Amino acid sequence: MKAQEKYREMSIAEFFAKNKELAGFSNPTRAIYQTVRELVENSLDATDSHNVLPEVKISIKEVEAATDDKPAKYEVAVEDNGIGVPPNEIANAFGKVLYSSKYVIRQTRGMYGLGVKAAILYSQMTTGQPVFIVSSTDSSDNIYYKKLLIDIKKNEPVIIEEGQLLKRSNWHGTKVYLTLEGDWIRAKQKIIEYIKRTALIAPYAEIVFETPENEIYYFPRVTKKMPKPPSEAKPHPHGIDIEQLKAMVSFTKTKTMLEFMVEEFQSIGEITARKFLESIGIDPNMNPKMLIEKGNSKLLQVVATGLRTYKNFRPPRSDYLSPIGEELIEVGLKRLFNAEWVKAITRQARAYEGHPFIVEAGIAYGGNIIPTEEPVLLRYANKIPLLYEEREDVSYKVVSSINWKLYNIEEPMPLVVLVHVASTKVPYKGVGKESLSEVQELESEIKNAVQEIARSLRLYISKKNSERTLREKIVTISKYIPEIARSLSILSIPPDKWGTDGKNNNEKIIEKLVKIVSKSIELPKIDGKEEDPEKIVRSVIANVKLEQ
Ligand SMILES: Nc1ncnc2c1ncn2[C@@H]1O[C@H](COP(=O)(O)OP(=O)(O)O)[C@@H](O)[C@H]1O
Ligand SMILES: [Mg+2]
Repeated sequence: MKAQEKYREMSIAEFFAKNKELAGFSNPTRAIYQTVRELVENSLDATDSHNVLPEVKISIKEVEAATDDKPAKYEVAVEDNGIGVPPNEIANAFGKVLYSSKYVIRQTRGMYGLGVKAAILYSQMTTGQPVFIVSSTDSSDNIYYKKLLIDIKKNEPVIIEEGQLLKRSNWHGTKVYLTLEGDWIRAKQKIIEYIKRTALIAPYAEIVFETPENEIYYFPRVTKKMPKPPSEAKPHPHGIDIEQLKAMVSFTKTKTMLEFMVEEFQSIGEITARKFLESIGIDPNMNPKMLIEKGNSKLLQVVATGLRTYKNFRPPRSDYLSPIGEELIEVGLKRLFNAEWVKAITRQARAYEGHPFIVEAGIAYGGNIIPTEEPVLLRYANKIPLLYEEREDVSYKVVSSINWKLYNIEEPMPLVVLVHVASTKVPYKGVGKESLSEVQELESEIKNAVQEIARSLRLYISKKNSERTLREKIVTISKYIPEIARSLSILSIPPDKWGTDGKNNNEKIIEKLVKIVSKSIELPKIDGKEEDPEKIVRSVIANVKLEQ
């Protein structure tokens, strides 16, 4: 008898339920960390990306203690003052894997429509509890709530309970409550670090975190300045693949290839469109729908390849990216490390494969930073802190290859290096979004950014060193001024006039010497400030006691 295979399709929800580690849920420690992360990411997307100053409250409570063979259960709750979810979208947004409002070309933290559902699936599989969502949009008169589970086989929400309340205030936002098995003890440090780093680059947010031990971590808002929210863009032809092209063709209302090119892509004018179509031998008057007709797959292929490779399109637009900005990075670094010196830069936009990106970097030096053998690396992508897989990340590759001695920085170094990549498509290595690939354009931008700041730091350190040497010199010379003045005053006045005249004379000579010494030394300007050498000379003299 021949063995026969049984075929069936797996729903995407089932796929992620079986491959939890792909979405970052590999064990109870990672699961609780990842849950916090997914919820906080969504809260921030719903606030700062829409010009709302974020207020985010996170709380974790133990609801069932661990036993010998089972981890403890925790309720994770995250509340925000964001734009809310429209009532008719709540069920799918939280109950259908790959359902998202973020499949547009815009710089957001979320991108796969998977995040919160991965957390909900994990919660459901470890505790059987539904997720509880409470939400209201700005324009709504009601607050809506739903308790739901995900039907894993069908990839569909199953509503357990729902309802609405009349809104008595002007609150808008979302609260999400999830119960899951987790290992808080092991995850604690990472979760706190994640929240700290989130606060670092969002000093305009108010963030409160309550731990299961009822400890409160509070990050007040330190500025109302927010990065400009990202806007939506049309795709750039270099970033298009066949599937996307098919989708665009099937949705377009345009009637000719010429119109299609001009209307559906970014920064393509009529002239460029004509030249491009001519170069791939396509009639500008052809109906774009022809591309998805049966038997035309070769034609489709020609257009797709042409779009990706044609050299004369303008580079992708970057004005819709939302970098954090030099000022906010510096504010954040100063606040977190009380650093002696900080500097940040935002580089010009570049592109890889049709996707624009901006690299930002910051360095903090000294202050409360604990010196270590390697600099502490803080990685961010679209404003999300990345904590795991550090060594696989392109930023690590760049930062660890820098020879810090060349920048006057000795080991161990009190040094923090921050790298932020903002893009409409961040080249993550996996859907867990923990590290970035070694895209060559990205690598060289990161290198340029970090080196540029390191050069400023070198200047600062060398000025500081030469200031120290000069200071020591001033101190050594100044110490002798009183003694020299006394000898000179004795020598320049005859013995019978030593009394009061001698004293006056002595003071005059001291004054002269102070001026001479202070004038001969110029201290370097550090961060625009220059110290007065005369002050130093006088304070040294004041401390010298002459022997009678
Ligand atoms: N706190 C929230 N505020 C507003 N909308 C939210 C919130 N959480 C989730 N959503 C909506 O649910 C959708 C799905 O979220 P998620 O599964 O995390 O995917 P993604 O963030 O990748 O879009 C989001 O695209 C968003 O529209
Ligand atoms: Mg998300």
